[in-house]
Parts: sequence; C-alpha cells; structure tokens
Amino acid sequence: MIMNRRVYESWKPVQYAKYKGILEKVRQFIRKGSLFDYGIGPGWLEMFLDEQGITFDRIVGFDTNPEMTEPRLANVEYVFEGPVEEEFDNVFCIDTAHLLHEPEEELAHLVRKGGLLVVSVPMRFMNKMPKFKNMRLLAKGIVGSREKDFFWAWEKV
Ligand SMILES: C[S@@+](CC[C@H](N)C(=O)[O-])C[C@H]1O[C@@H](n2cnc3c(N)ncnc32)[C@H](O)[C@@H]1O
Repeated sequence: MIMNRRVYESWKPVQYAKYKGILEKVRQFIRKGSLFDYGIGPGWLEMFLDEQGITFDRIVGFDTNPEMTEPRLANVEYVFEGPVEEEFDNVFCIDTAHLLHEPEEELAHLVRKGGLLVVSVPMRFMNKMPKFKNMRLLAKGIVGSREKDFFWAWEKV
C-alpha cells in the first residue's frame, strides 16, 4: 500500500497517542545506543522520543517509500532498500509490520541479543502477527485513542 505523505500529516495526533501509550509501558526497557525504525515514515516517533528526553547515539530509519520520509530529520540515517544486515540496540516498528510479508524474518535479525523489539499494529491486524522465537515478552497491550493499536515489547534472548 503506497501512502500519501500530505494526507498522512493529519494522522499525527493519532500516532502520538499511540507512542504515548507505548512509552508508558516500555520506557524502562529502552536500551542505550542505537535505534532502528522500520517504516519510519515522517519520523514522528523520533520527534516524540526526543521531546520526552529519550535520545540515541545513532538512529537509522528504514522505509520503502522515500516520499513518506519528507521532510527528513537531520539526526536520522535513512535507508530505502534492504536487506539491512546490522544489529541494533532498539528496533521499533510502528504500524508497518502488518505490511510485511515475513514480519519475523524481516525484524528479528535486526535486534542484537539483549536488545529491545517493539512492534505495534492496528488492532484488526493483531492476530496476523507471528509468535517471535528467541524473544522474551516484556510488555504488551492496547494503546491509542482514535485508532487503537496492539503492541508487544520483547527482549531478544
Ligand atoms: C502507517 S505508516 C507508519 C509510519 C510511522 N511508523 C508512524 O508511526 O507514523 C507505514 C509506513 O511504512 C512504510 N512501509 C510500507 N511497507 C513497507 C515495507 N515493506 N518496508 C518498509 N517500510 C514500509 C510506508 O511507506 C509508511 O511510511
């Protein structure tokens, strides 16, 4: 599904409500170091985390639609083609995992051992998410206001 960046702008408060709910549950689990954002879009998650005083040594944003990432953030390294063959301390995938053919295969290898993986999808897709292997569940739940998401936070073991 190709999304339109201009239309998506009106969705910012909806996404912020989800980030707020997720952060309440995962703040304590966020690792120091790097962040990989799978399906970064406009980078609102990074803006939100920064506003909350949560910063990283390095942020890599992955998205298959470059237009969705405009305007770009100065502190983010953007990648538009995979596969990415690196491991990160934190991997977030907000409202994108349900668009992937093999969510587990595409996400799990990006997380270093002991690292954090956060996946959030609109409620109607929650049963489509696989049971991630080699991941210890840290938190899960329903977040959001106008649109509800279900999120999971795992530690890679
Ligand atoms: C609903 S938006 C979510 C954007 C952002 N995570 C947020 O919280 O607002 C989904 C994003 O995933 C991107 N996307 C779609 N399919 C993708 C894929 N297979 N790999 C990476 N990004 C993808 C889209 O271009 C879009 O920017």
